[in-house]
Amino acid sequence: MNTPANSPKSWSGRFSEPVSELVKRYTASVDFDQRMWQQDIRGSLAHARMLAAQKIISPGDLSAIERGMAQITQEIESADFHWNLDDEDVHLNIEKRLTALVGDAGKRLHTGRSRNDQVATDIRLWLRDAIDEIHGLLGDLQGALIDLAHTHAETPLPGFTHLQVAQPVTFGHHLLAYVEMLQRDRERLTDCRKRVNRLPLGAAALAGTTFPIDRHAVAEELGFEAVCENSLDAVSDRDFAIEFCAAAALVMTHISRFSEELILWMSPRVGFIDLADRFCTGSSIMPQKKNPDVPELARGKTGRVNGHLVGLLTLMKGQPLAYNKDNQEDKEPLFDTADTLRDTLRIFADMVPGIKVKPEAMRAALRQGYATATDLADYLVKKGLPFRDAHEAVALATKECERRGCDIAELSLDDLRQFSPLVGDDVFAVLTVEGSLAARNHFGGTAPTQVRAAIERARARLNK
Ligand code: ARG
Repeated sequence: MNTPANSPKSWSGRFSEPVSELVKRYTASVDFDQRMWQQDIRGSLAHARMLAAQKIISPGDLSAIERGMAQITQEIESADFHWNLDDEDVHLNIEKRLTALVGDAGKRLHTGRSRNDQVATDIRLWLRDAIDEIHGLLGDLQGALIDLAHTHAETPLPGFTHLQVAQPVTFGHHLLAYVEMLQRDRERLTDCRKRVNRLPLGAAALAGTTFPIDRHAVAEELGFEAVCENSLDAVSDRDFAIEFCAAAALVMTHISRFSEELILWMSPRVGFIDLADRFCTGSSIMPQKKNPDVPELARGKTGRVNGHLVGLLTLMKGQPLAYNKDNQEDKEPLFDTADTLRDTLRIFADMVPGIKVKPEAMRAALRQGYATATDLADYLVKKGLPFRDAHEAVALATKECERRGCDIAELSLDDLRQFSPLVGDDVFAVLTVEGSLAARNHFGGTAPTQVRAAIERARARLNK
């Protein structure tokens, strides 16, 4: 029984009634999957070329399909394409338009293929591009951090443990810690890309196809490194999306930690840095405020990216083989993860060069926090005192400084000798912040010479 052209569509002659409006809206994905249109067309063209090469469709059909797809590309690019909810998703919308444009050749395109392997192919192509872009953006942010670290290779900053002043570090050294985190993020993406970059097409609905297809030719044309081995796995696997989201969650976690520090450093109670005005907002009621909105939002958006990872894991955990419609729910979290990452990385790469550092505030905090106490203990150890005794002697000296309201370096030689007779007048060299920094002079340490060497290594790695 044929449905009249203007009444709601049902799937095929097998169905006796169309879906309700609500079910149509509930089951459709075209509103969010249309952004894969380029990947869908690329995948279809590769499939069609393979079908023609294998003599499954004629050369005439292939050129009609190519002509139709060129026209569709133009229509979508110029926003003339009519996306229709009745046609459920990006795949059916494009196929329907192709058939309207080129007739039977359009209807032959789906030979030996299913939307199950088609959608898996499209997402992989889409994600591969997203990974490449994000990989580059991570590098841009690393570059910005390295440049700022270079400017501050000698600027002393209190290093914290338990959010208490611990030992002096250089601001450059501190920034390079984030460069390392982002480097591991880039490595994870590179590794994840290998598993994204495998071709599911040819698995058809789940069991493969009876047509003599050439999956390796399609893989080669689309730039896939390998072909998915098992047809059931090919259509149902979303590990690759989960892996990406896991890598993305770590990127955001790193950005969130950095954000937390920027927010803290910018608080007037700390005052170590200032952010450029264009990354901050004011308050509608308190005229004195300048709020670090961008880092705060990045910290907040980390929650949503972490949520997407858990969402995808939960999406998959109860699914039997092979494809289930549940999988349509993979796209929004995946797209939003990539979008959030892209925007966040771009904004941070733009914000970092404008960080205004306030070295006097950093130095004042070092003084208040007795940051060179460990240096004094190490000094006594080098003079022969067992470390635990040195620790106790310095603890008593610190207590005395607290009573007097001064820094350890401000105690006189006689004062210091009360805590240990081993103290000599060479002690003051180790009690200065500069002395403390310079003394940590080994691979991975905070001495300015080491920081400069680390910057060189990081730059070389970035340019590889
Ligand atoms: N829109 C679907 C998705 O995103 C495409 C695959 C549909 N396949 C099916 N057999 N219903 O997963």
